[in-house]
Amino acid sequence: MKHNLGIIILAAGKGKRMNSRLPKVLHKLCGKPMLSYSIDTALSLRPGQIILVVGDDKEKIIDYIKTDYKKEKIKVVQQKKLCGTADAVLSAKSMLSANITDLLVLYGDQPLLTKETVKNLLNTHYKNNSVLTLLTAEIDDATGYGRVLRDKANNIIRICEDLDLTWDNIELKEVNAGSCVFKKKELLRVIKDIKPDNKKKEYYLTDVVGLFYRENKKISSASASSSDEVLGVNSRSDLVDLEQILNQRTINKFLDNGVTVSSPQTTFINHDVRIGKDTVIKPFVYIDSEVEIGKNCTIGPFCHIRGGSKIADNVIVGSFAELNRVYAGNNTRIKHFSYLGDIKLGNNVNVGAGVVTANFDGKNKNKTVVADNAFIGSDTILVAPVRVGKSAVTGAGSVVTKHKNVPDKAIAFGVPAKLYKKGKDE
Ligand code: UD1
Ligand code: CA
Repeated sequence: MKHNLGIIILAAGKGKRMNSRLPKVLHKLCGKPMLSYSIDTALSLRPGQIILVVGDDKEKIIDYIKTDYKKEKIKVVQQKKLCGTADAVLSAKSMLSANITDLLVLYGDQPLLTKETVKNLLNTHYKNNSVLTLLTAEIDDATGYGRVLRDKANNIIRICEDLDLTWDNIELKEVNAGSCVFKKKELLRVIKDIKPDNKKKEYYLTDVVGLFYRENKKISSASASSSDEVLGVNSRSDLVDLEQILNQRTINKFLDNGVTVSSPQTTFINHDVRIGKDTVIKPFVYIDSEVEIGKNCTIGPFCHIRGGSKIADNVIVGSFAELNRVYAGNNTRIKHFSYLGDIKLGNNVNVGAGVVTANFDGKNKNKTVVADNAFIGSDTILVAPVRVGKSAVTGAGSVVTKHKNVPDKAIAFGVPAKLYKKGKDE
């Protein structure tokens, strides 16, 4: 039978403990909102449909989806009253396309869940032809999670939520990780029978498990590849803990791919950064989103590479440099204290200590170009828009003012900088 997958992402929770005006799922980890981890996983599965269930923050979340996912067809539905995960799924029912055969439920606050684990969950579900497949994990401290109850033949009987545990099952270590996949028809048939007969008086999606077991329907489980994957964000402290784990995953990936990150504890690399082989990242380096670094570079210690920067091969960026929307050509050196913004540096450029671009005039960000082989003397200020030509030199302490371009091979110095040797503009 051909499967047509629908995905429901639950994100209606208030996130009170975040103590924030921003919806919980829009808080960022490693440069992108928590919710986008679930959305990106969902999109990678190429489903027939994605529905996002949100609460009172509907407008803010729709605005976000419209900007970051404008090309994707993601439907958003508001759960009117937050009365449990089963009710959240039901609130998406009217939006479900008739041709959907299977329904995957993901949470919007579990950014560590990997695509591989979700794919494995789906494969298990399809292979076993089950009505329901749960993602489970073994964790030492299972407090807060629903526990998986099994019979003697190891069939799953039901999920018992943490608050409803009894002395018999309090020590169970297998937890319900949250993500699960259903045969749509079967789920919609039984979900109406769920009653809020638990301590929280909520409609629990997990109660479906017991209902299917009683009907002798086939329930399977797949396990998460690491117990980290099931962690959710409920507070700011969870947010920073999970961000550390994600950052560590990114760094491990670079270490495997031939990049040295000499101090993982003090290095922060956003989720989409690209770095070439044999580049060394020294301690205390922060690299924002949308940064690309080439091969065989040395970055740091102590520097900040901001978004939109592209660094070619064999480049040195030394201590206390901040680079913002910088292009740096091959073999260029920016070795000590600098602020460089909106600048294109050619190949073999030497940027002396203390060089600063004055790229913002109070209204606009203006661009600077420094062509190949130029030598920018220590403490030069480049007031944009301005260009320093090929093999040109600026003297130490110069202020090269707006539009006063330095021609190729020329030498300029002073405040404001004057041409000492004229050179030749091409
Ligand atoms: C849920 C599971 C539990 C599992 C745990 C894993 C249920 C009843 N329990 O518990 O078995 O171990 O996740 O993290 O499902 N949500 C809504 N609307 C609601 C309630 C929740 O959209 O009315 C969303 C939340 O925003 C969140 C997700 O559903 O993304 C899970 O809800 P939450 O209340 O955090 O459930 P847990 O108590 O963690
Ligand atoms: Ca939770």
